[in-house]
Amino acid sequence: MNNEDHKILAHRQHVKYFMRFLNILPSSLSSHDTTRVTIAYFSVSGLDVLGSISSISIELQRRIVDWLYQLQVHPDKDTGDMSACGFQGSSTVNIDLSSENKMYRCGHLAMTYTGLCVLLALGDDLSRLNRKAIVEGVKALQTKEGNFSATLSGCESDMRFVYCAACISYILNDWSGFSIKRATDYIIKSIGYDYGIAQCPELESHGGTTFCALATLSLTNQLDQLSEEQIEGLKRWLLMRQIDGFQGRPNKPVDTCYSFWVGASLKILDSLNLSNFSNNRNYVYETQDCVVGGFSKWPDTCTDPMHTYLGLAGLSLIGESGLLEIVPTLNITKRAHDHLKSLHEQWAGGS
Ligand code: FPP
Ligand code: ZN
Repeated sequence: MNNEDHKILAHRQHVKYFMRFLNILPSSLSSHDTTRVTIAYFSVSGLDVLGSISSISIELQRRIVDWLYQLQVHPDKDTGDMSACGFQGSSTVNIDLSSENKMYRCGHLAMTYTGLCVLLALGDDLSRLNRKAIVEGVKALQTKEGNFSATLSGCESDMRFVYCAACISYILNDWSGFSIKRATDYIIKSIGYDYGIAQCPELESHGGTTFCALATLSLTNQLDQLSEEQIEGLKRWLLMRQIDGFQGRPNKPVDTCYSFWVGASLKILDSLNLSNFSNNRNYVYETQDCVVGGFSKWPDTCTDPMHTYLGLAGLSLIGESGLLEIVPTLNITKRAHDHLKSLHEQWAGGS
């Protein structure tokens, strides 16, 4: 296959690729069984960016929606406590637990965020959500520094979950579980000496966490809290991540996913046009599998749903034809976002 063949979007193959993940989880991904919602998100949103949601039959769409609602953790039956509410990542952990083990039945911010994105992409009206309970679940996870833990059952807390909490609050149009002031302070403290943003204060700046931080500031209308020096420094740090494709941090290899994480960060700062689209595009296409479908992080390595979705999303940001427009802050299509806006209008009207 010559170089030019690689630069044509293998649209039909990518549709088939994502459809396979909606039907079966290959053994190579069995360790992701407990986070199946994220795989559903990459696949359904991937089909959405490809303009191919209709490839999912109405019956399969219904089954996916029903499956997601089953993963919703409801308030404690005995006490009414809502702190564990949100979505779990898979039916494997969605079992009836005895009361001494009920702390294992709790939502996870990344699963709640990606689950909501799938519901939006499938045009669901979110009417089966317990919105109040999910917001209380978000509230229970914010630390006094403004950071968020992923779940109540004790685990890591970092910028990824600040971002997930912001997306959930934005989608539910309810910020009562998210202290914008504390989260903004936390983000600003995580800006490094090089102006990139890290998972936590004093850690190494990273393209993925810089995205999480900037998208959160944008969703909360707090971008104006950054000084001009910080904005210029951030733009410089992000633009310096371009080699041909983008890397996540200095001296690391480029990787397809950063065409989205870094590309979307630049888009949020209105500066993506300062990057080299053609080099970025060529790199992403080098990681495309034209035969089976999918994108990988590096050329000639194994494809996966995350890099496939983020590769397509990164291409969409630079206007690749045949792809739907992406809203960079929420990482969903404009089509799904328009549906969300119509739900917000209905909720404001009292329905
Ligand atoms: C690799 O680290 C890490 C990634 C490829 C993920 C980065 C993305 C984020 C932190 C954003 C995640 C957002 C959500 C909502 C979960 P590495 O050290 O293996 O890779 P590197 O060498 O490229 O830095
Ligand atoms: Zn990657």
